[in-house]
Amino acid sequence: MELYEQAKQFVIEASEYIKKEMAQGLTVESKSSLNDLVTNVDKGCETFLYEKIMSYYPDHRIVGEEGHGHDIQDTDGVLWIIDPIDGTLNFVHQQKNFAISVGIYIDGKPHSAFILDVMNQDLYHSSPDGAVYFNDQKLNPIQPSPLETSLICLNARWLVKDASQNAALTLAKKAGTVRSYGSSALELAQITTGQVASYVTYQLKPWDFAAGLILVERLGGVVTTETGQPINLLQASGLVAAHPSMHKEIIEIINA
Ligand code: IPD
Ligand code: CA
Ligand code: CA
Repeated sequence: MELYEQAKQFVIEASEYIKKEMAQGLTVESKSSLNDLVTNVDKGCETFLYEKIMSYYPDHRIVGEEGHGHDIQDTDGVLWIIDPIDGTLNFVHQQKNFAISVGIYIDGKPHSAFILDVMNQDLYHSSPDGAVYFNDQKLNPIQPSPLETSLICLNARWLVKDASQNAALTLAKKAGTVRSYGSSALELAQITTGQVASYVTYQLKPWDFAAGLILVERLGGVVTTETGQPINLLQASGLVAAHPSMHKEIIEIINA
């Protein structure tokens, strides 16, 4: 089976693993703060994917939120960037609205991407030929829309950060309406289907955006840091993703 089909199967199997483990109850721990949570299922799902990938592709490399490959400094070879559960706070509080996110890069170039909304079993994915799909439906390029009538997503925490509060508030006032869904992977994925016009946040890690970046860019969207710089795949950064015209407008607003 080719890499894309195999990876898709791994992601679907990982979602079955999550649902089975959820039924047994969660063990929740806090990391850097009371609201920075990780569960036994986040860790178990990363291990599940790691072992699957290594058993089929021992020479591939893996960066995962829960500990794999944090020392990786370059994008040589086949690199899987994995968030086993994106939206852990939703997972813990709601048992829904979370996703598995997997971006595959070869020598730093996008190969394929998968964002699976686990409880809805909705898969946003992109094949090596550059096509992007929502489940079996091939998606069209992202359409432009005016900021003042569009639905955009922000990380709500950005609104209460002292250093950037004004920029976030100005943007929130100019947008048609604002949501904060708590899963960067799903917020990026929903740009591909037109449900979300833009996703803007002040800080993400590579596993939060590796798959979403591929999906959005392949449909003609632009994804940069909050200052409009190219994204470095191995570095944490702010992020603005949108159709090129809205992206330009948002970068101007938040950097004014
Ligand atoms: C988080 C989510 C959230 C974003 C945070 C991420 P996690 O990922 O994507 O939407 O605002 O910055 O850390 O911890 O649930 O995998
Ligand atoms: Ca994440
Ligand atoms: Ca995570």
